[in-house]
Amino acid sequence: MTEKKFLQVLGGARAETPPIWMMRQAGRYLPEYRELRRRAESFLEFCYTPAMAVEAALQPLRRYDFDAAILFSDILVVPDALGQRVWFEAGAGPKLEPVEKSDPLAGLGMDNFHDHLAGVYETVSQLDAKLPSDVALIGFAGAPWTVATYMAEGGSSRDYADVRGWAYHDPEKFRALIDLLVEATAAYLVRQVDAGAEALQLFDSWAGVLSEAQIRRWSVDPAKRIVAAVKAAHPHVPVIGFPRGAGALYADYVRETGIDAVSLDVAVPLGWAAAHLQSQTVIQGNLDNLLLAAGGAALDEEVGRIVEAFAGGPHIFNLGHGIIPATPPEHVGRVVDLVKNAG
Ligand code: CP3
Repeated sequence: MTEKKFLQVLGGARAETPPIWMMRQAGRYLPEYRELRRRAESFLEFCYTPAMAVEAALQPLRRYDFDAAILFSDILVVPDALGQRVWFEAGAGPKLEPVEKSDPLAGLGMDNFHDHLAGVYETVSQLDAKLPSDVALIGFAGAPWTVATYMAEGGSSRDYADVRGWAYHDPEKFRALIDLLVEATAAYLVRQVDAGAEALQLFDSWAGVLSEAQIRRWSVDPAKRIVAAVKAAHPHVPVIGFPRGAGALYADYVRETGIDAVSLDVAVPLGWAAAHLQSQTVIQGNLDNLLLAAGGAALDEEVGRIVEAFAGGPHIFNLGHGIIPATPPEHVGRVVDLVKNAG
């Protein structure tokens, strides 16, 4: 049996106090990250250089008693490895040469895929060797829909009108892109487990912009196929799904995808999730990342409310979305202390 509390709870056990980690626990809110980041030419180079990515993933563990570390990389390494041009502009976020909507697979393919990602696999394997024995290692990927939004729009978007319109106008061509991403994402996650990842998280950060029928088609179904492919290679690796913004469809996502745990966004009501989701799966979440940045008595109260709401079943304490750069590092420490001393 594993001694890692995070993996025990992910396996369905209820712990005395919930294990804790935070999405984007490595990143710009930490001065030591900003210092390290200055040494890389580009953000992608940073992600592909094990010496840097390993250090970035370890930084938050030196400050806080987290129960898990997450691989340091980005969801957009997958389109980069498929052959799309991807770059990050300071202050402007990710940029991509948008795919041709009449021929979305032009110039993309898996021929060089794993070679391109060798640095990421090496980062996983070095982290696996370096982590303290009670800290679990999480691998991750973006879900096909979320990655496709960036590939189609050429970057972040306000309303995703371009990609949502494309999926209605020409579902067959759009499906070709999603199918390639299902295959690539599954292969990528399998390799992360081969290299030492002990759990996986699938980030569908933009699931919430889709209508009911579209969320089933472009979020639930691809997640189900990825989970099946990963489990065919690694039957016991737990997978956490994060269909951010899925609302009541969180229930369908949990029932249909085969995931082992679900990460809740800030809008999911605690009582509803405890009653309707926690009997089916492990809950992860869902402190508001903006409240974490704000701090104070309201933060302390909300941490207590979340711990209490999910005390009846398996729960991993986390945020509803990643730590924002303006977050004072002390607030993160405060939450970790509160959670460790809860109950
Ligand atoms: O501790 C960790 O979680 C770090 C690993 C990680 C990063 N990105 C590092 C990163 C993870 C798990 C991600 C996931 C990711 N990336 C998602 C899904 C989760 C979510 O937040 O919804 C998405 C949508 C992306 C795409 C992305 N990457 C955007 C939109 C941006 C720009 C906005 C921003 O926060 O800067 C990035 C860049 C990025 N990814 C940074 C980091 C630390 C900042 C870049 C830098 O340091 O120069």
